[in-house]
Amino acid sequence: MSLVDLLRDVVGERHCLTDAGLRASYETDWTRRWSGTALAVVRPGTAEEVAAVLRACADAGVGVVPQGGNTGLVGGSVPRGGEVVLSTQRLTALEDLDADAGEVTAGAGAPLAGVQSVVRPAGWDVGVDLAARDTATIGGMVATNAGGVNVLRHGPMRRQVLGFEAVLADGSVLRRLPGMPKDNTGYDLGGLLSGSEGTLAVLTRIRLRLVPLLAHRAVAVLGFGDASAAVDAASRLRRSLPSLLALELFTDAGLELVMRHARAAAPFAARRPAYLLVEIGSDAGDPTDLLVDALATIAVDDDAVAVAADAAGRHRLWQLRERHTEAMNAEGVPHKLDVSVPIGRYAELVDRASNVVEAVAPGARTITYGQVGDGNVHVNVLGPAAGDDAVDDAVLELVLSLGGSVSAEHGIGVAKVRWLARDRGPESVAAMRAIKDAWDPRGILNPGVLFERDS
Ligand code: FAD
Ligand code: MLT
Repeated sequence: MSLVDLLRDVVGERHCLTDAGLRASYETDWTRRWSGTALAVVRPGTAEEVAAVLRACADAGVGVVPQGGNTGLVGGSVPRGGEVVLSTQRLTALEDLDADAGEVTAGAGAPLAGVQSVVRPAGWDVGVDLAARDTATIGGMVATNAGGVNVLRHGPMRRQVLGFEAVLADGSVLRRLPGMPKDNTGYDLGGLLSGSEGTLAVLTRIRLRLVPLLAHRAVAVLGFGDASAAVDAASRLRRSLPSLLALELFTDAGLELVMRHARAAAPFAARRPAYLLVEIGSDAGDPTDLLVDALATIAVDDDAVAVAADAAGRHRLWQLRERHTEAMNAEGVPHKLDVSVPIGRYAELVDRASNVVEAVAPGARTITYGQVGDGNVHVNVLGPAAGDDAVDDAVLELVLSLGGSVSAEHGIGVAKVRWLARDRGPESVAAMRAIKDAWDPRGILNPGVLFERDS
């Protein structure tokens, strides 16, 4: 029996896609920079079916690419050529919401927005939030250790994982559900799977720690003469506003793109080179006065401030930052370089990124934005061909020279494999490789992601 016939037996005819038209949306990533052909796309409905798929692929020596919402931005969720894509689309059940403890179990394929809509009425929230919330899945977010807009408050996805269920390459199932906030029973396997990018196991269920829902929020967008002034203001606000939820930086070039593609209006008439978005939350009434008082202590011009506390106004201001990603895509196929640097080098990176890009790709456009509270800069470059890595190398070289990390929140995927050893050093990569070899000795899980593909 062929592998495809075996897979059909496991998941059923309807959930084993071999037709090119049906496979297409699973074969190209969100940016359109990465794509490949899959032998088949399978959509198992249970952990047992996941295990059977993995066993069949291991026996056939065929690679498996786990895929959630396919919103990943480093090429790790799509095939490189000939693998089976294992989609978690059918693993969406939400179970055991514990409104006293603030915990819920989510199927790996559950989109973030779906979980938010179930836990919020119970007074809880998911600690990680990001603009891809309607499509990004809880499993994908754990697998990438997603960050998003609230890391400065709640930490990244790894911090939200209390328990998990996952299937190893040989089909064995690891299950630690429901999971407990205090659990010192040996290695933290859930922590290890967070950020493993589908190279160690397929996550099938996750027990999430929830955070209290903050019913009242206020958002401000402030304009500054340069990135350095915006970063300075952000640092001051971190000290004076303990209720901070988000601190985002963007530039006028990015705002211009968002205004064009999202038909959004500028936050205020007097445009500035750099902008800071600030959000604070409270469970005890409207926090606008608190925000306004804090803004009065930083140097910002009166005509470069917009504040909103009502839902529509907050949404309008957030759109100016959140829609950067799609605006970038609308302009072309971006080179997305998600990096972090010590906060003291943040403005320097924002200022110097376009210079190093211009030096290797004259005429390319560089747009930066990011979570300034976490030292996270998203350098986006438009212009160079998808396969031309010169700008990627130039920016990542600059980041390392500033003492930063080549991946802040998106992961390594296939995009930054060459840079993993440069960043972490050969000893750390050898230690990671040893874990990979122990858990997946035949190398079938996401070959080519994190490490060079075995020849
Ligand atoms: P996919 O893209 O399907 O997969 C991502 C990786 O995880 C792949 O390596 C895949 O093999 C692996 N994987 C997926 N599911 C599983 C599973 N069940 N078990 C094992 N491995 C699995 N990211 C951030 O960190 N912060 C942001 O603020 C942010 N904003 C974004 C905004 C937009 C508009 C877009 C398009 C993307 C954004 N991202 C952001 C990137 C992306 O949303 C995250 O990386 C997200 O965590 C990916 O989830 P996914 O379900 O789409 O995973
Ligand atoms: C963001 O912060 O907007 C996301 O990480 C996505 C992106 O980098 O475009």
